Amino acid sequence: MVPKPVVPAGPEAAAGVPGEPTLWNAFANMASLAGHAVTIVGGEGSTVYDDHGRPYLDALASLWYCNVGHGRAELADAAAAQMRKLAAYQTFEPFSNQPAEALARRVAGLAPMPGAKVFFTPGGGSDAVDTAAKLARGYWRALGQDDKQITIARSHAYHGMNAYGTSLGGIPANTEPFVPLVSLVEHVAWDDAPALEKAIETVGARRVAAFFCEPVVGAGGVYPPPEGYLASVREICRRHGVLFIADEVITGFGRTGAWLASERFALDPDMITTAKGLSSGYAPIGAVIASARVAEPFWRPGSTEVFRHGYTYSAHPTACAVASANLDLIERERLVARVARLEPVLARALAPLAGHELVGEVRAGTGLLAAVEIAEAARTADPGIGSRLVAEIRERGVITRLLRGVALQISPPFVITEAEIGRIAEVFAAALDAVAARAAR
Ligand SMILES: Cc1ncc(COP(=O)(O)O)c(C=O)c1O
Repeated sequence: MVPKPVVPAGPEAAAGVPGEPTLWNAFANMASLAGHAVTIVGGEGSTVYDDHGRPYLDALASLWYCNVGHGRAELADAAAAQMRKLAAYQTFEPFSNQPAEALARRVAGLAPMPGAKVFFTPGGGSDAVDTAAKLARGYWRALGQDDKQITIARSHAYHGMNAYGTSLGGIPANTEPFVPLVSLVEHVAWDDAPALEKAIETVGARRVAAFFCEPVVGAGGVYPPPEGYLASVREICRRHGVLFIADEVITGFGRTGAWLASERFALDPDMITTAKGLSSGYAPIGAVIASARVAEPFWRPGSTEVFRHGYTYSAHPTACAVASANLDLIERERLVARVARLEPVLARALAPLAGHELVGEVRAGTGLLAAVEIAEAARTADPGIGSRLVAEIRERGVITRLLRGVALQISPPFVITEAEIGRIAEVFAAALDAVAARAAR
């Protein structure tokens, strides 16, 4: 099916009439962007449309989240139905709601952690990360180990933009202007398991609460875990009594070809942070999945412990209803199995790009997650090359973006077709050729 361009008409068009730009974009230089933003007005499947009716193949699934694809009417229907019944109600202290209870049961059932409990966050992954970091410390305090306050994270890590997540982040451009926001945070190299053990021993295991780990590094450049790395860090954490927190905000709910990467890599985590794919972005929501061990001091009959944490929109019923409908859709259309089937298709399509003079490495082979790293020599010779490649690719009708200044992201919706995957690879190749030809002139 060829999706129709979505061109705004009537009041929508009037609202789109350019005036003085006032929207301040995330991660953007507004001095150059203001008045030149790409205004997306609609989408269907793996394609989105701008306000001129121009289609783009969305190689990003927006920001790694639109897993069921754009324009899924049943998710809009789920939101509308829930809003008519109960749009929102708080879940502080005694209050609960049915969509949240149902979703919590469902998410706990999908996690490879028997007896897990689920804490929903309203804003996405950053809230989930801050919640998990505070819960880790709360867990140890509840056990009388108040000194266990240090959290360890990795280079290249992205754990969101709230205060804890910014401090845990391992991408210097994001963290250096702000840290220390949260003290008692340590970093180790992303691929060095012995370095984690050394860091724990240096500060003392009795002071370390948790280790945060993306099973596949995402925003840092899409790095699948080195052979044996995850098993090794998991074992080190267990031996030293450090909670292992898998940050699955990107990998959760199917992106690696398993419901959770923790299952694919047999991580047995103490907590999992999720967001994005939980609702495919149709409503903002995240979740911290806490293992039975972490929940126990708070849930044990007779316990007086309170996790003094929560947000106005925690367990928001409309967001929970949308997330449940999204999981229904993933199940009904067997999209997790589809990701597993497309994993080698994507890797094969991108492999030839590794031979291009401007490409240093192609990283693929973990579900629908890949990156094309720009050769270091090309980046050194021309620091603007990455942004130009992103623009050239968009000119040819495909949306990608630059990760950590070094690599181009590919993380399409799960509904992407093999032909569309082929087109992404062709457009990348054409853009690389065009940029190389210009550099040679
Ligand atoms: C691994 C990881 N953790 C946390 C976050 C933060 O999520 P959000 O932007 O929804 O707050 C992200 C966002 O990309 C992420 O990739």
